[in-house]
Amino acid sequence: MERRTILVTRRLPGVPWEDLAKRFRAGDPPPAGTMPREEFLARVRGASGILCTLADRVDAELMEAAGPSLVVVSNFAVGVNNVDVAGATRRGIRVCNTPDVLTDATADLGFALLLSAARKVSDADRFVRAGSWTGWDPWGFLGVPVAGKTLGIVGMGKIGAGVARRSRGFSMKVLYHSRRRMPPSEEAGLAASYRDLDALLAESDFVVLCVPLTPETRGLISTERLGRMKRTAVLVNIARGEVVDEEAVATALAEGRLFGAGLDVFEKEPRIHPKLLSAPSAVLLPHLGSATGEAREAMGRRATENLLAALDGREPASPVN
Ligand code: NAP
Ligand code: GLV
Repeated sequence: MERRTILVTRRLPGVPWEDLAKRFRAGDPPPAGTMPREEFLARVRGASGILCTLADRVDAELMEAAGPSLVVVSNFAVGVNNVDVAGATRRGIRVCNTPDVLTDATADLGFALLLSAARKVSDADRFVRAGSWTGWDPWGFLGVPVAGKTLGIVGMGKIGAGVARRSRGFSMKVLYHSRRRMPPSEEAGLAASYRDLDALLAESDFVVLCVPLTPETRGLISTERLGRMKRTAVLVNIARGEVVDEEAVATALAEGRLFGAGLDVFEKEPRIHPKLLSAPSAVLLPHLGSATGEAREAMGRRATENLLAALDGREPASPVN
């Protein structure tokens, strides 16, 4: 029987490409970086399975280019906003992702951003490296306190709950907003109280975004919503860049209407809005949420298992559709 074709779009931790290439037709080894779109469209032709990353757009054009052989798109990420899931479903293509295995890593990073923005860690680090430090300064880099303050989590899913659990060590009061309110036992377990979004923004000292990018969440944190936040508040985005209006955040920081921002994700990665680059108290990271060796290896293993299960006609561990 002729071996089926798969496409792995880049070299990835935990993905045993050589083993896969023995079992399937896999073409040339995957590149070290993101596969250029033209190459992706050309190499996907006739593929039964794709193992791709959040930087690869799997849209109608791509699925059309693959042809009717395509049965699974296995994404090396929990977020699947890069995949046209509805279109895949209509074509009978399985979409899978990598939840759970990156929850702790991403929640840790959310908390790192929260603390760094609150205490101006990036600004102060740059100051020291620039050789500008002339001695201890009672007025220098004054931050906002974290302990005992109110944390608002937008999107109380797996990562949001991880952030809430971490806040216990800082005796924070936890508010959350999701489309659905959790049952009382789950709210009690996380010591979290439900608020509608506007109330959460108004009451919170720290707002951490943990929602998926969907048509509903695109542009969720707009100029108007930023205006509801306290001037002393810190905004953390570990969701997707498109959930916030970056220009509005940069302007609010520059005008002192927001104390700080910790951003791991951006609207047009890897481009960063120029105003953010010069904004005060902004900590900017290159999409590092899941970036621990353990998490990335586990994501690769899960993405591989998902791919193989769907190709073998078994139920994948983490299907999206
Ligand atoms: P999850 O468990 O599915 O949690 C998402 C939460 O968002 C759910 O509780 C969902 O609850 C809520 N939600 C969905 N739509 C909403 C809306 N319109 N308004 C308010 N809440 C909404 O997913 P997760 O594993 O925590 O991951 C969340 C997202 O984080 C991913 O989709 C990804 O984009 C991002 N992420 C980023 C990184 C990074 O590197 N920075 C790493 C991992 C994940 P309801 O359905 O009840 O509203
Ligand atoms: C990372 O951003 C992910 O969605 O896994």
